[in-house]
Amino acid sequence: MVSPSSLLVLVVCSSLIFFVTEAQRPALVKGLSWSFYESSCPQLESIIRKRLEKQIKDDVGQAAGLLRLHFHDCFVLGCDSSVLLDGSAGGPSEQTAIPNLTLRKKSFKIIDDLRKRIHAECGQVVSCSDITAIAARDSVVLTGGPNYDVPLGRRDGLNFATEQATIDNLVAPFANTTTVLARLAVKGLDATDAVALSGAHTIGISHCTSFTDRLYPNQDPTMDNTLANNLKVSCPTADSNNTVNMDVRSPNVFDNKYYVDLMNRQGLFTSDQDLFTDERTRDIVTSFGKDQKLFFDKFVIGMIKMGQLNVLTGGQGEIRKRCDRRNKDKKVDIATVVEDLEETFSALF
Ligand code: HEM
Ligand SMILES: *[C@@H]1O[C@H](CO)[C@@H](O)[C@H](O)[C@H]1NC(C)=O
Ligand SMILES: *[C@@H]1O[C@H](CO)[C@@H](O)[C@H](O)[C@H]1NC(C)=O
Ligand SMILES: *[C@@H]1O[C@H](CO)[C@@H](O)[C@H](O)[C@H]1NC(C)=O
Repeated sequence: MVSPSSLLVLVVCSSLIFFVTEAQRPALVKGLSWSFYESSCPQLESIIRKRLEKQIKDDVGQAAGLLRLHFHDCFVLGCDSSVLLDGSAGGPSEQTAIPNLTLRKKSFKIIDDLRKRIHAECGQVVSCSDITAIAARDSVVLTGGPNYDVPLGRRDGLNFATEQATIDNLVAPFANTTTVLARLAVKGLDATDAVALSGAHTIGISHCTSFTDRLYPNQDPTMDNTLANNLKVSCPTADSNNTVNMDVRSPNVFDNKYYVDLMNRQGLFTSDQDLFTDERTRDIVTSFGKDQKLFFDKFVIGMIKMGQLNVLTGGQGEIRKRCDRRNKDKKVDIATVVEDLEETFSALF
């Protein structure tokens, strides 16, 4: 039997925990809400979670792809799905754009497949931008990272991410901490956010060309010798097309090992390793390396801030019918016709 008094203690405790969590989370941007689809699509988050559970179990790398997709979406023009438009630099049709963004083509497919399932159940009421934000959160959770509520109500943008906007807003892997901090500061992200968000590199892979400048012609003195030797095997030339895991300790688990790597001079990019070399961020790296809970708390704060960058809300933008094109770009092709039929049928039954 559970006594009424112990029940009371339980209720008080759990509401206290809830209160603390809520008090720490960043403020909502005007127009976004914690319960945006509560009545229009209550099953939204469970549809996404169930589907991604399967897909990430089949291929854990997709978690990294989806997390990175949300980052690129938010940093270029704001979290408005501009990155998803066919024709955006880094989007499906411009894989060779400079910088070669190497976003996974499959990530784009996964988002639009989710969109299809959600629109079939709820109608065309959920934006591709919100789906991308929830998919990024679920990718973190399903690889072992922290769970958190995602602010919702984003609308999809009408503009492509041009190559220039993409270059101007993203950070290069050979950037030092000064550049990283400056690039993030203009987005309202501080040094703690910068270090915490870089911790996303605890999962996923990188192409050799993103870091071979640290191997050839001369080895970066801040890189551990064993790591350098292993990387030279995986990437025998500066322009090798191979890929390597980014976190040498636990490449597929969302944990704080990325920071342990940095403390051992085993970070992959200059932008990673310099966070430990630079005095302004070194203590933050060490504190995350020692305390995973602290990293998780700060990562969640960083993600909620990043997820609200320059969002469109209310009557701005649109709810895209397909994530890869604007609604008015009506190209009648087989795919749309088949999909329209599918939607008609699922609306009927
Ligand atoms: C601080 C600035 C950042 C730089 C310079 C940077 C750079 C890069 C580069 C060069 C790659 C490898 C691309 C390739 O060669 O295949 C990569 C991968 C990745 N990045 Fe970042 N990134 C940064 C911040 C972030 C943030 C904020 C997130 C998410 C919150 C993130 C998530 C990821 C993930 C998950 C991957 C692996 C992707 C995959 O396996 O498909 N990065 N990043
Ligand atoms: C760009 O990245 C893709 C993989 O996403 C690769 O197939 C392609 O060869 C790369 N292009 C260049 C010019 O590096
Ligand atoms: C960081 O990089 C910038 C741009 O390349 C350079 O001007 C600056 O001197 C570098 N700072 C440090 C401390 O290395
Ligand atoms: C990488 O792939 C590209 C395109 O597939 C090819 O042209 C290039 O020669 C490859 N580079 C190396 C070093 O194998």
